[in-house]
Amino acid sequence: MTKNHDYNFELILIAGVTQNGVIGKDNQLPWKKLKGDLTRFAELTTPHPVIMGRNTWESLPEDYQPLPDRLNMVLTRNEAYESPGAYLMPSLEEALESIEARDPFITGIKYDQVFIIGGARVYEEALPLADRLELTEVHREVEGDTFFPGWDRKLWNEENRVQVKTRKGKNTHDFVTYIRK
Ligand SMILES: NC(=O)c1ccc[n+]([C@@H]2O[C@H](COP(=O)([O-])OP(=O)(O)OC[C@H]3O[C@@H](n4cnc5c(N)ncnc54)[C@H](OP(=O)(O)O)[C@@H]3O)[C@@H](O)[C@H]2O)c1
Repeated sequence: MTKNHDYNFELILIAGVTQNGVIGKDNQLPWKKLKGDLTRFAELTTPHPVIMGRNTWESLPEDYQPLPDRLNMVLTRNEAYESPGAYLMPSLEEALESIEARDPFITGIKYDQVFIIGGARVYEEALPLADRLELTEVHREVEGDTFFPGWDRKLWNEENRVQVKTRKGKNTHDFVTYIRK
C-alpha cells in the first residue's frame, strides 16, 4: 500500500456517490434515505475526528451539529465565522497537522484514523492523500449540483463490497471499501 502523506494516522474519505457522480443538491444530500447508510457512517467515523467544509457543516441537521462523539473540524477561510461545536480550521493542512500534533487546545488525544466527510472541494483536496475510501455507491442517477471528484480506479484495490438490497430484493446501493495500492 502506498502512503501519500507523513501523518501517523490513516486518512479515510467517506462519501455517498450516485452513478453520475452526484453527492449533493441545494446543500443537502440528493436522496431521502439509503438503508443502513447513516448507521454505517456513524459506526465508521465514531470516535474519530471528522473534517468537513463549511457548507457540509451547515447542511447537518441541528441535532447533529456537532456530530456526536467525534471531533468536528470545519474548514473555512472566513476568520469571522463562528459556530458552537465546530473546531474551525483555515486549511486542510492545518487541520491535519493539528490532529497529528495532538494539539492540547483541541483534545490532546492521539488518533489513528481521521475521516474526510465532504463536500466536493474538501474531497478533491484530500483525495490525493487518502489511504482508504469508504464509498456508498448508489445505483441510480439523480440530479444534483455537487459532484465527487474524478478518481483513477487503477490506483485503488477494492477490498470489500456489501450489496444492500430492499425487502423485495432490489440492490439499491453497495458499501465499498477501496485501499490505495
Ligand atoms: N454524499 C455525500 O457523502 C456528501 C458528503 C458531504 C457533503 N455532501 C453534500 O455536498 C454539498 C456541500 O459540498 P460543497 O462542495 O458545496 O461544500 P463544502 O466542501 O462542504 O464546503 C465548502 C466551503 O468549505 C470551506 N473550505 C473548503 N475547502 C477549504 C480549504 N481547503 N481551506 C479552507 N476552507 C475550505 C470554504 O468555506 P468558506 O466559504 O467559509 O471559506 C468553502 O466555501 C452538500 O450538498 C452536501 O449535502 C454530500
